[in-house]
This record gives sequence, structure tokens and C-alpha cells, in this order.
Amino acid sequence: MTTANAHEPAAPQRGDFAPDFLWGCATSSYQIEGAGQEDGRVESIWDRFAATPGKVKDGSSGLVACDHYHRWPEDFDIGRDMGLNAYRFSIAWPRIFAEVGGKPNEKGLDFYSRLVDGMLERGLQPWATLYHWDLPQFLEDRGGWNNRATVDAYLAFVDAMTRRLGDRVQHWITHNEPWCTSIIGNFEGWHAPGNTDFKTALQVAHHVLLSHGKAVPLIRANVRNAKAGIALSLHPVRPASDSPEDLAAMARHDGLRYRWFLDPLYGRGYPQATLDIIGDAAPTMEPGDLEAIAVPTDFLGVNYYFPETIKNDPGHAPLGARVLPPAPQAETTAMGWEVAPQGLAELLHRIENDYHPGPMYITENGSCYTDEVSADGEIDDVERRRYLQTHLAALRAAIRDGVPVKGYFAWSLLDNFEWAEGYLKRFGLTHIDYATQERRLKSSGKWYRGFLRGE
Ligand code: NOJ
Repeated sequence: MTTANAHEPAAPQRGDFAPDFLWGCATSSYQIEGAGQEDGRVESIWDRFAATPGKVKDGSSGLVACDHYHRWPEDFDIGRDMGLNAYRFSIAWPRIFAEVGGKPNEKGLDFYSRLVDGMLERGLQPWATLYHWDLPQFLEDRGGWNNRATVDAYLAFVDAMTRRLGDRVQHWITHNEPWCTSIIGNFEGWHAPGNTDFKTALQVAHHVLLSHGKAVPLIRANVRNAKAGIALSLHPVRPASDSPEDLAAMARHDGLRYRWFLDPLYGRGYPQATLDIIGDAAPTMEPGDLEAIAVPTDFLGVNYYFPETIKNDPGHAPLGARVLPPAPQAETTAMGWEVAPQGLAELLHRIENDYHPGPMYITENGSCYTDEVSADGEIDDVERRRYLQTHLAALRAAIRDGVPVKGYFAWSLLDNFEWAEGYLKRFGLTHIDYATQERRLKSSGKWYRGFLRGE
């Protein structure tokens, strides 16, 4: 048993948060749905990438995943029984369009329509993410997000979805983590489509931001009382030391990791200091792009997992700044990510001070641990439970200090396909036995349920 530390905040209670606070879990289409070849779904860049040997650690893919496509009623029952009042999901574009300029696939539209009805029947407010990385491969074949025409294809997709679901879905997230779509997928290359070119990555980032900016008015045109925003993955940053070199490296890193996305979204254009460093890698833009990107939104989604420590490293492309692994004494998750609940509060304060984005939602927060199923079928994931508790305590403190956070979505409702890690890494509050597709609530999920029920 762990004894409470005198310096630890009191355990969070639901009553510490506003009565209309949103309590959800988040998932994404490619990570849970499976049914990769059903009802007209076409290939996505993640199908192609996962089929390429060496790209996904266990050689797996999302072809079957959690089979959520067929088992969603059971999954939503789990969410309802946990006491959630919101649920964040994403829509697989390859289920909706099979070719450029084609007609939306009725079977794909119907699936999401049923899904939304299933949420509403269970008291789960639907939060739809329009892009969570599963770009149709036929668009990648034409250059993907590096091609400006993908913005128009995305708008056709957004139009189809908001027309179909807009009578029931009020909350829309245009993009999940543009950093990952652009930099990880197109410069670092360990996510689909696997390019390793910095200029391409920045052009991709520009088109993703532009598509966000153009999607927001379209969402508003199709959805009465729409609430539209974007979800960014963000980290508080620390310098490896107080040396001027490390401080400067941290500023360079931050210019790309944080400001490159937030500055244009909040009307400041791309940060000049970063433009000065990257030179020719700067994206090609057209007049009006920055104005479009700076469209006012209804909320900012923040995905928080861990803080980053930055060291000066002149040889490290593209900015001469390197993210250090956590210090040996730091507590880490099975991803090797530092556990730092205070980092969440720190990050939220910083965003609020820098941009005043209006309402914020924690659109993802969660942890990966090596779960063990005991002989009696229990999964006592104490560390994940603690991660959840301590991060909610930090969130409570940030809200009390005036940061306008209006909801929290735990990542994730289910264990799922963790991208390049395949099924080796588990983030769920519910355990999945991939051999049988059996679902079992972990003790973290039971704790969240007790918290939500006020027990
Ligand atoms: C961020 C991503 O949005 C999600 O897809 C991923 O599984 C989690 N973080 C955990 O890495």
C-alpha cells in the first residue's frame, strides 16, 4: 500500500469540477475499428505503412484491431457504465471516399450515423475528430498533404460528414495532432506515410493548418450551433541546463514544436525566429492562407502526455536541438515517457498566458503500462490509476487558478493499435484480449467509474 505523501494534493473528486464538465474517453478510427476491408473502405496510408516490413514493431496493422466496427455497442456500454458523458472518436476518411471527386460511400456514412446514435442513446456527447491520421492512400499517391489539392479533398470529406451527422454532432475537431501528421510522418518518418524530408513536412503542416482554417466555416455552415476546434499535442519544455546554449536550443525547439502551430492558429503567422533558421524549408503559401488559418475557433483541444527536456546539439537536424530521454531517476511509463502531472498544469497556464484560446479541453491524456491479467481475470493497473488521479488533481489546480478547461478525455477507452508500436503498448482503461476480443475493465477504469459516480 502506498501511504499518502504530506505534499500530495487531496484525491480529486468529481465534485471539485463544474457540474457541466465533460468527462470522456477518446479513441481513433484506425486504432480500434478493424473491418479494414468492409463496406467499401479503401486503403489508408496506415494500411500501406503497416504492411511495409519493419515499420510497425510487432508487424501488425489495424486490419482487425479491437473489431470496434462490429462491437461498438458493447464498447459504448462500457463507456456508459463507466459514467462518461462524452466520447471522442474519429472518422475514417477511407470509409467515406474511394476516389478523388467521387460520391460519399453510403455504407460509410451509415456506419458513423449508427455510431453517433449509439452514443446518444447512452448519454455520450459525441466529439468527432475529422482527421486522425488515416489518409486515403489514393490521396497519398497524388502527394498526400504535401499537395494543396488534398485540402479540397478534405473539405469534400468534411462537407459530407457534417451534412450527415450535423443534426446530432455539435462538436467537431478538425485535426488530431498536426505535429504528428507533418513532422513525425514526413520528416522523422516513423509514422505513415514515412517520408523523411523537412521541407515536405513543413508544407504538410501548412496544408493541414490551412485545411483546418477552411473547414471551420464549412462546419459552421452545415451544423447548427457548431463548436469547432483543433487538437494539438503539446509538451511543457525544459532546458537540459541553464547554459545559454541549452536555453537557445530550447527556444529553437519550441519555435517549431509549439509556436509553429499555435502562432498561426491565433493570428500571428509563422514565428519569424523559426523562419529565419529554416530558410528554404519554409512552406509555399498563397495570399489569404494565414488569414484562413487564423479563423476564430470555439475551443482548443490539448493532448498532454509528458514534458520535454531540450539539449543543444549542433549536429541534430533540423534545429540543432535534441529532446533528451528522461533522467534516470525520473518515473516513466512503459513508453519511456516521464510521468509529470505538474507538467499538465504548467502547459495549460502557458497556453492561456500566450494565446487566451478560450475554452480548452484535454482531448487526450493517458499512460501506457505493461498490464498483467491475474488468474481471476483482474487487471490491477495501479500505475495507470495513479497517473489518472494525479493528472486530474493537477487539472483541478489549474482550473482553480483560472485556466478555462471544460472537459477531460482519457486516452483511451480501450487498448488499441499504438501506431509504430503495434499492439505491444496498451493505453486502455479497458483491457482487450486480442485473441478473443474479450473486454475487461482495468482497475484504472473502475477507479474512473467510481470517481464519476462520486463514490
Ligand atoms: C496521441 C495520439 O493522438 C493517439 O493516437 C496515440 O495513441 C496516443 N497519443 C498515445 O501515443
